[in-house]
Amino acid sequence: MTNKELIDHLRQHQQLDHDGYKQLLTSMTKEDEDYLYKNACAVREEIYGKDVYLRGLIEFSNYCKNNCFYCGIRKDNLKAERYRLSPGDIVACAQKGYQLGFRTVVLQSGEDMWFSDEMICEIVKAIKALHPDMAITLSIGEKEKSSYLKYYQAGAERYLLRQETSNPEHYRQLHPKELSIAHRKQCLQDLKDIGYQVGCGIMVGTPGQTYDHIIEDLIYMKDFNPHMVGIGPFIPHADTPFKNEPRGTLEDTLHLLGIIRLMLPHCLLPATTALGTIDPQGREKGLLAGANVVMPNLSPRGVRSKYMLYDGKICTGEEAAECHACMERRIKRTGYEVVEARGDYR
Ligand code: SAM
Ligand code: FES
Repeated sequence: MTNKELIDHLRQHQQLDHDGYKQLLTSMTKEDEDYLYKNACAVREEIYGKDVYLRGLIEFSNYCKNNCFYCGIRKDNLKAERYRLSPGDIVACAQKGYQLGFRTVVLQSGEDMWFSDEMICEIVKAIKALHPDMAITLSIGEKEKSSYLKYYQAGAERYLLRQETSNPEHYRQLHPKELSIAHRKQCLQDLKDIGYQVGCGIMVGTPGQTYDHIIEDLIYMKDFNPHMVGIGPFIPHADTPFKNEPRGTLEDTLHLLGIIRLMLPHCLLPATTALGTIDPQGREKGLLAGANVVMPNLSPRGVRSKYMLYDGKICTGEEAAECHACMERRIKRTGYEVVEARGDYR
């Protein structure tokens, strides 16, 4: 089959076999890319129209007990200046987001055991009490199912937990031995069983990653059928073991956004900050490849530069209001429209 025929097949059947994905990922011409993105945008517009949903990201703590080799806030990075926002500050941040027009907040942190389950629940409940129509997404790592259930019962309805890579050997290359893909996948299943809208996803171009690994991820995601998929390039951080590794490419990331839109037509797909970091127009290009979500930063300006997952991370100097207005302007230029809505999975 030609690449165009593969793209037609993917649009019609929402999946390809291993060889089909491999051919697409490794041999697309400029013309094939345009065809992929045209189809991806058409599918996304059939379901979500021209709407782009904003998620206000509150990075509330950069303490982490883990030591993922790629991550700038890993425990052993002694140069990272640690901070945590107080529960009151987190709620105030969400409130500010609401006033700016955000109807979803994403509370993200390292795996910081200082925040007990009870504290997380109190924060969720406090935001919900102020703004019952605001959706709360948590992105705080691997927990017991009983903890996930408590957060859900407190009012959190979505959870982001990228699997990072589905391949066990590749997972080993990216993480210390205490962490396992089996446990991460179990967490994703627990979240789904509880009733969360769940987001999984990968970094593109991590050290040791092959196209076969990426295809394993595509097959896993097709089977898991998540509500959201976070796809962004790996970018090295100078104070991590991967400091000298090359970053993931814009091309591979955009190809994957287009493929995932056709494979999981209904998924909520962010054009990530990491994509905006490797290319000044990265997020716009992501939207034009099939993404329909952007996640502007809502964290207080004083802490933003400390949540440094990778080098050169953008938007660390602006105020929340500036980020919101900037994203609105940028999105309008792509022909899409920011909407003030929760942006639930359809
Ligand atoms: N602790 C939570 C977890 O593990 O899911 C959430 C925070 S973690 C920092 C959020 C995401 O950042 C990870 O899932 C990973 O994909 C991404 N990330 C970390 N280091 C990165 C890097 N060097 N380049 C690109 N993305 C990175
Ligand atoms: Fe824990 Fe990155 S190592 S958030």
